[in-house]
Amino acid sequence: MVTEIKKGVYWVGVVDWGLRRFHGHELSTHRGTTYNSYLIVDEKVALVDTVWGPFKDELITNISKIVDPARIDYIVTNHSETDHAGSLPAVLQRARDAQVVVSTRGAESVPGHFHEKWNFKTVKTGDRIALGETSLAFIEAPMLHWPDSMFTYVAGRNVLLPNDAFGQHYATSGRFNDEVDEHELYEEALKYYANILTPFSPLVKKKIDELKGLSLPVDVIGPSHGVIWRKDPTQIVTRYAEWAAQKPGKCAVVLYDTMWEATRRMAEAVGDGLAAAGVPFKLFHMGVADRNDVIVEVFKAGAILLGSSTVNNGILPTFMPILEEIRGLKFKNKIGAAFGSYGWSGEAVGQLEEHLKSSKIELVAEGVKAKWQPTPDDLAGCAALGRAVGVRLNAA
Ligand code: FEO
Repeated sequence: MVTEIKKGVYWVGVVDWGLRRFHGHELSTHRGTTYNSYLIVDEKVALVDTVWGPFKDELITNISKIVDPARIDYIVTNHSETDHAGSLPAVLQRARDAQVVVSTRGAESVPGHFHEKWNFKTVKTGDRIALGETSLAFIEAPMLHWPDSMFTYVAGRNVLLPNDAFGQHYATSGRFNDEVDEHELYEEALKYYANILTPFSPLVKKKIDELKGLSLPVDVIGPSHGVIWRKDPTQIVTRYAEWAAQKPGKCAVVLYDTMWEATRRMAEAVGDGLAAAGVPFKLFHMGVADRNDVIVEVFKAGAILLGSSTVNNGILPTFMPILEEIRGLKFKNKIGAAFGSYGWSGEAVGQLEEHLKSSKIELVAEGVKAKWQPTPDDLAGCAALGRAVGVRLNAA
């Protein structure tokens, strides 16, 4: 349902209740998502971001409830990823004279996606476009989370439209943060940050400092996914500043994969050791766990313990996606260790340690191996490993 979020500023986006995998199949979205598009109606008419292509007709219908789409003068494309730019062709078929407003890097990426000779207008931080009573001001936000990313500020209405930043994959009937379950909202906001924005945390901190320096009045923050922050809108900015600091939690995750339960038994013994050191932990079997949910727990934890049995001289293949994800997300301030069972060669533990090192996770204890099924002494070694990591975490 089209919603007026401030005078003359309308949400004309789409709620995608059914989405369960995003970015192809890379990201789990248990609560669906929304594609938020905003229409500003003044003497001039501007549309800020569109929606994913399969929903283009709903977008056109929503815009048409407010104005004839042919009246659109500007289509601001804060970011070229197809969930936001995918309906540009459909809108431009109806608004043939509209200018497509892009950031400096968007001037490369938007044409690169569509290969159309549209009427582009490139803007940079500080540029403004007057609409009448209101105007649009632009703040480039490179790598939050693509080079082309940009925030648009609706001056005169105190509305910040930061595209992916501050968003959540969260389909809801209410459009505003004060209309939804706060626990669910923050679960999704953190999952979004942990899985998408973690590697750019230093830039998140700089951008927040830059925004504070601008002293813009902000009544509403309208991200491009999920609910709109209306009640205490800058609460999510405060949370982002906390998350960007990546302060290690006094808790641990034990991630393992297992063929015949030997490494599972070792993982549980590692957990016993962590508990003995007073460190709460969560244990995940990566053959069956949701990788993106586990990444949230990795984000929160100060210690990461990895276990795999050895197969074909290496780590179980089903364990590899989370290892690649951890390396790519460039977590900071974490410690770790490795363990695993084997039958004859036993390379997995050493390879897990190499993964920890290349992920910049400090190895703080020597890995533990057990041949075939672990003996009581092997399990005691695993518990000692867990305890050593726990003691080190507590001392940090
Ligand atoms: Fe980076 Fe929501 O797309």
